[in-house]
Amino acid sequence: MPESENLVEVRGLKKWFPVQKSFIERLVTRQRQFVHAVDGIDIDIRRGEVFGLAGESGSGKTTTGRLILRLEEPTDGNIVFDGVNLASLSKEEMRRMRKRMQVIFQDPLASMNPRMKTGDAIGHSLVIFDEARGEEKRRRVLEMMERVGLTPAHVLYNKYPHQLSGGQRQRAVIARALILHPDLIVADEPIAMADVSVRALLLDLMLQLKQDFNLTYLFITHDLATAKYICDRIAIMYLGRIVEMGRLTDVYRHALHPYTQALLAAVPVPDPRFRRTAAMPRGEIPNPINPPTGCRFHPRCPAAQEECTKVEPELREVQKDHFVACHHDTM
Ligand SMILES: Nc1ncnc2c1ncn2[C@@H]1O[C@H](COP(=O)(O)OP(=O)(O)OP(=O)(O)O)[C@@H](O)[C@H]1O
Ligand SMILES: [Mg+2]
Repeated sequence: MPESENLVEVRGLKKWFPVQKSFIERLVTRQRQFVHAVDGIDIDIRRGEVFGLAGESGSGKTTTGRLILRLEEPTDGNIVFDGVNLASLSKEEMRRMRKRMQVIFQDPLASMNPRMKTGDAIGHSLVIFDEARGEEKRRRVLEMMERVGLTPAHVLYNKYPHQLSGGQRQRAVIARALILHPDLIVADEPIAMADVSVRALLLDLMLQLKQDFNLTYLFITHDLATAKYICDRIAIMYLGRIVEMGRLTDVYRHALHPYTQALLAAVPVPDPRFRRTAAMPRGEIPNPINPPTGCRFHPRCPAAQEECTKVEPELREVQKDHFVACHHDTM
């Protein structure tokens, strides 16, 4: 069978978290309530691309990433990774599959063991997966440290995380994610904590490493300016649903969903003469326990009409490779 163009295929994916209630609340209402963190999404991530997932806080981006990595069990739906349905794998098979998908989190200090030397942290999974130990491990770690610009590698190898700069720590986390030569990297706000001066450097490094190691990225960010710099395609999430998806250039030049349009209008412009005010849609994100009926965005949407309050719009392809979930005639 020919290799599919997609490395990851997500279908009908849902994650509902039960809401913890107090004893009194449980007496009053019998009904169990759920946070609809991810509420039925379909995504294809193509081999070799940077697929962005964007949206305001609480829209379900991190949960989606964790579901794809199987760090979270889905409530419903399927994830196919390189042609294999992850739900069909045994624990041991999933353990081996996990080598091929790695994650980079937002906060490098929190994701590194403070008592482990940088070199040992980077090489830890080589030991766990029984790939290399001792001198061989050290050699591979030093080589990877060079590749990600953690130099002089033999000096930094013996430093503890708190002895590194923020940029160095983020490079260490990247090296750790790459040491097993994975196919997919889920990068969850990977530069959000880094100093502004090193952000572009880190993004350039990630793009270079993608070339060098044949990687595919799921790049999670709430910042559309960052997404613009690195993504090939992008999905915009709102309250657990995808409202728009397509090639980055199409979505940015010709956003179809009122939510995407509002997000793009709120992106700060570097030139102060053209500074725009952050014109985010009125109101807060509603509660994901009881998402609004119809289109979830309707309470904040400037163009909402009666239909929008009743019928949930499907994500449909309105131009080649450009999808939107909106009732309006968006052409
Ligand atoms: N383990 C959990 N238990 C209960 N609710 C959860 C859990 N994890 C996430 N949630 C809820 O699910 C929703 C989506 O959360 P998620 O972290 O995926 O959003 P996000 O888009 O990554 O937000 P942010 O930009 O703030 O990181 C939120 O309402 C969150 O409170
Ligand atoms: Mg998140």
